[in-house]
Amino acid sequence: MFVLAHLSDLHLAARPRLSELPNKRGLGFINWQRGRKKVHRAEVLDAVTRDLKACAPDHTAVTGDLVNLSLPAEYARARDWLKTLGPPSDVTVTLGNHDVYVPGAARLPVEFWGEYMRGDDSAEPGTFPFLRRRGAVALIVLSSAVPTAPLLATGRLGERQLSRLAALLDETSGLFRVVLIHHPPVSPARRHLRRLTDARQFRQVLAAKGAELVLHGHDHRRSLIWLEGPHRSIPTVGVPSASARAPHHREHAAGFNIFRIDGEPDAWRCEVTTRMWDADGRVRELERETLW
Ligand SMILES: [Fe+2]
Repeated sequence: MFVLAHLSDLHLAARPRLSELPNKRGLGFINWQRGRKKVHRAEVLDAVTRDLKACAPDHTAVTGDLVNLSLPAEYARARDWLKTLGPPSDVTVTLGNHDVYVPGAARLPVEFWGEYMRGDDSAEPGTFPFLRRRGAVALIVLSSAVPTAPLLATGRLGERQLSRLAALLDETSGLFRVVLIHHPPVSPARRHLRRLTDARQFRQVLAAKGAELVLHGHDHRRSLIWLEGPHRSIPTVGVPSASARAPHHREHAAGFNIFRIDGEPDAWRCEVTTRMWDADGRVRELERETLW
C-alpha cells in the first residue's frame, strides 16, 4: 500500500519592509492585517504537521500558496517547514498564485524550494509539468501559478503544459496517475476572479487521457467532485488550508487528506481520509470515503 498525504495553502507570512510594499503587495498586506492574519496561524499549522507526520505517509504533496506576499523571508520560512515534512525525494511541491504574487518573485520558489519541484528526469528544477514515479504511483505535477493584477487570483496552465500533460498521461498509463495542481478544475460563477482560466482545456485532456486522481488546493475547503474520464469518472479532491483557524466556519478550518492506494490496473483501491483541526487544538478524523 502507498500512503500519500496532501496539504495546501499554508499562507506563511513575514513582515514586509516598506520598500517591498509598493505594487500589489501593499494591497495584499492590508488584506492580511485586516483578516487573514487571524485565520492562518502558525500553531494550527504545527498541530496539522505533527498529526500528518504521525500518519507516516510514504509521500507528501503540497499544492501551493505556501507563502502569502512572495517575500524572500516567507520563502525561507516555507523552506524550513518543508524540511520538517521530509527530504525533497519524499515531498512534492507545486505553486499557487500567492507563490508568484508579483512578477519580480518568479524565480524565488526555485531558489528556495527547487529540489521539491524536480522531476525524476528533470535537469532543471521547477520545470512544469514534471513527473515523479513512486512504485505504482505516478505524480504528474502542473503549475497553474501566474502573477496577476491586484484583486485577481486566477491561474493558467497554457498550451505547452497541457500538451505535455497529455503525453505524460499516455506514458504513465497503467500506473496510478495522480495529477497535482493548485487551482480547481471547476469553479462556481461566484469565484470567477479566482478561476483557472483554461480549466475547460484541462478537463478535455483529462477526459481524453484519463487519470486516477486529481488533487488541488486554492479553495481552502474540503471538496470532492467527479470529472469525466475516458472509461470511468476521475475523483477530484480539494483540501482545506493547512493553517486556517476558523472557529465560526468549521468547513474552513485547517485539515489535510491521506490517500491509501493499493491494487493494480483495473483493480485499484483508494480511500481518502480527511483529518481536521478542531478549536480544542486537536486534529481528528472527519470522514473516510472510497474513491476506487
Ligand atoms: Fe490560491
